[in-house]
Amino acid sequence: MRLVLLGPPGAGKGTQAGVLSKDYSLMHLSTGDLLREAVKNNTPEGKEAKSFMDKGELVSDEIVARMITAKLKKTDASLGFMLDGFPRTKNQAELLEAVLNNLNMPLDLVIYFQTSEETILKRLTGRRICRKCGKIFHVTNIPPKTEGICDSCGGELYQREDDKEETIKNRIEVYNKQTSELIDYYQQKEILKEVSGDLDVNELYRVLRDTFEKSGLK
Ligand code: AP5
Repeated sequence: MRLVLLGPPGAGKGTQAGVLSKDYSLMHLSTGDLLREAVKNNTPEGKEAKSFMDKGELVSDEIVARMITAKLKKTDASLGFMLDGFPRTKNQAELLEAVLNNLNMPLDLVIYFQTSEETILKRLTGRRICRKCGKIFHVTNIPPKTEGICDSCGGELYQREDDKEETIKNRIEVYNKQTSELIDYYQQKEILKEVSGDLDVNELYRVLRDTFEKSGLK
């Protein structure tokens, strides 16, 4: 199964990908996670990316395409993958298509998480992430059993730098200006399926599994 999860920030792409990639033994590739790792390790890419990420702007197509291409060429990706947060521009979508055609691994489906702005704001301001294992929580929607502590590994929960209200607003604007055109782009290729990102976590999970099944994906 080769999928792209497309949608605004906070739509729940990372949360669903975390579970579904395990269910279907897929490689979960999040450009946001790869970039945050690069920033943490102070790599040349991380140094260049940081100021863009802090403002909620997109990092250059060149950096993200290089990171994703390296991962897609690994053998694990040939067993199936879920791309989360990539592509985000038409140029990235075209680069992706060229790389996948070269590897003879075309996309099966692009899932578009249609999500209201009200939901996005509530989700992002309340998001907390485990420093150790990366598990995603929400202070009210998906709270940890003990405040500030990860249920899975006991790691400390933190709030992302770009989950401040001003930066969130810019991320939504950037999504509307630079990413939302991909909805049409993939619709024209007849591989787009729309789901509601506003659904609660379990309901959305069921809808996604159902969508895969109806599309003949296993
Ligand atoms: P990235 O990390 O990709 O951020 P994003 O797209 O803004 O997406 P998010 O991670 O914010 O949201 P999500 O949809 O995964 O939601 P989540 O599941 O966490 O990118 C960060 C930055 O990196 C970008 O701004 C840019 O600078 C750079 N970047 C990344 N990719 C790039 C690219 N391709 N090109 C250029 N630059 C790039 O859920 C959110 C919250 O809601 C959580 O608290 C969760 O617990 C909760 N929640 C989730 N689902 C539900 C539900 N159904 N019901 C209730 N609560 C829920």
